[in-house]
Amino acid sequence: MSFVITTPLYYVNDKPHLGSVYTTIICDAIARYKRLLGEEVIFITGVDEHGLKIQRTANDKGIEPKTHCDEISEIFNINWINWNISFDKFIRTSSKNHELIVNEFYERVKASDDIYMGVQKGWYCVGCEEFKENPENSSTYKCPIHQKNLEWKNEENLFFRLSKYQKQIENIINEPSFIEPIERRNEIVNFVSKGLKDFSISRTNVSWGIPVPGYDNHTFYVWFDALLGYVSAISSNTTSQTLEKSINDGWPADIHLIGKDILRFHAVYWPAMLISAGMKVPKKVFGHGFLTREGQKMGKSLGNVLDPNLLLSKYGNDPVRWYLIKDISLGNDGDFQDRRFVDIINNDLANTIGNLLNRTSSMSRKWFDNKVPDSDNISSKNKLEYLAKTSVENYIYKFNTYKLDQAANEVLTLAINTNLYLNDNQPWLLIKEKDKLPVVKEIIYNVLESTRIIGLSLLPILPELSSKINLQLGSTYQKDVSWEQQLKWGLLISNSTLPKPTPVINKLEYE
Ligand code: MSP
Repeated sequence: MSFVITTPLYYVNDKPHLGSVYTTIICDAIARYKRLLGEEVIFITGVDEHGLKIQRTANDKGIEPKTHCDEISEIFNINWINWNISFDKFIRTSSKNHELIVNEFYERVKASDDIYMGVQKGWYCVGCEEFKENPENSSTYKCPIHQKNLEWKNEENLFFRLSKYQKQIENIINEPSFIEPIERRNEIVNFVSKGLKDFSISRTNVSWGIPVPGYDNHTFYVWFDALLGYVSAISSNTTSQTLEKSINDGWPADIHLIGKDILRFHAVYWPAMLISAGMKVPKKVFGHGFLTREGQKMGKSLGNVLDPNLLLSKYGNDPVRWYLIKDISLGNDGDFQDRRFVDIINNDLANTIGNLLNRTSSMSRKWFDNKVPDSDNISSKNKLEYLAKTSVENYIYKFNTYKLDQAANEVLTLAINTNLYLNDNQPWLLIKEKDKLPVVKEIIYNVLESTRIIGLSLLPILPELSSKINLQLGSTYQKDVSWEQQLKWGLLISNSTLPKPTPVINKLEYE
């Protein structure tokens, strides 16, 4: 059984923004974590290429939608490689294989008598690719997410009988583990309690989409098509792309991690579609919050969009990951502040963790012939051992419950406590007394060992920094030994050589 985790499939109207980087980094940390626990993981990301929004974007550029999509999809793909994202599947919804899955799925839904022809009238937001419940003053109303006017639509569309699944959807969303965080669940429960309405799954005015078999001028509604990307991703790269293959190879998804704006699609429409097709529903839909910048919504019109690539080239991967994972509580909205970013990186990574490693390794090298001290006299119980053990236990618990910020804080707290232990014990004074040598050895060994555990714990969150820390200790993660085993106390080898210390993270300057 594989653990299947997905990011949203991003619209290719533009290159990746901080919001898409945020979701993908969180998924990456979870995927890495699960792999370290020994689970088989399928980490899916990709792009959502069809629909009116993309068709118009390409038209505005004066190029064919396919050409536009090829270009932007490639940018996404390379972007995730640059961010060291460990995805297993990258799905493009314009691929032929995906079309096969959509068609097969549609046949199943039709066979369940869930498709009929009707007239769709309403106000549509092209940015969201969604009909909005009739707002007051519809003609001047702007979508709060896209700040664009809605468009009136009145056309013959095929409909999906969502209303038929009222009871089943109620049961699913009432499962406490299905929607997280809890506040988001309440929004959905409230929405569903008003009664589910059938929704249109085809369009006649959009040529850039998958043709609906049997209806000449209809293409599938982009969301009907895109959600299925999660399924087709599983059986992509195989010769027989069928629903059965995807089901056998890993469906259902264990977690869809998405932004709160697209929760209804994932927690209501999608499960109903799947039940109709006789498939299992995802196990969890996690709706994270929105990122703002210096307290303001990011937008092109405000001119305050933060280009994630600039952050990456300027600061590197780990600092951005640390800020997004540790400073934002997963599920809540978060704010990106330049000053706070610099402070957090300097305090947490450079000072608390980086300096701890550097100064302890320097002391050990100086006093013990460039080596880790021998541990002959090390008492079996000590304060740091207890703290490290508790920290690892809490870390695992927090990670398992998707409290990634708290998990990151567990590691940081261990580093703070290790610094305190060092300062309280003052080995630099004790070393001057000959008979205190065994005690100094014990202190230094404990601090180095705690630092090793800190570094190894960081592996899913900050893979690059984690490797650097452990290399500095002459100890690397061993792929063939369980990660949890390696997080046990006492594995740093006495008398092993300590490489010459170099800073593992550079301090940042305010600009
Ligand atoms: N294509 C759909 C998803 C289809 S999934 C089958 C889509 N794409 S999107 O590119 O517009 O959005 C992708 C994700 O980015 C969404 O989860 C959305 O919530 C998220 N974000 C967009 N702006 C954001 C922030 N400012 N902050 C955090 N996430 C944000 O929707």
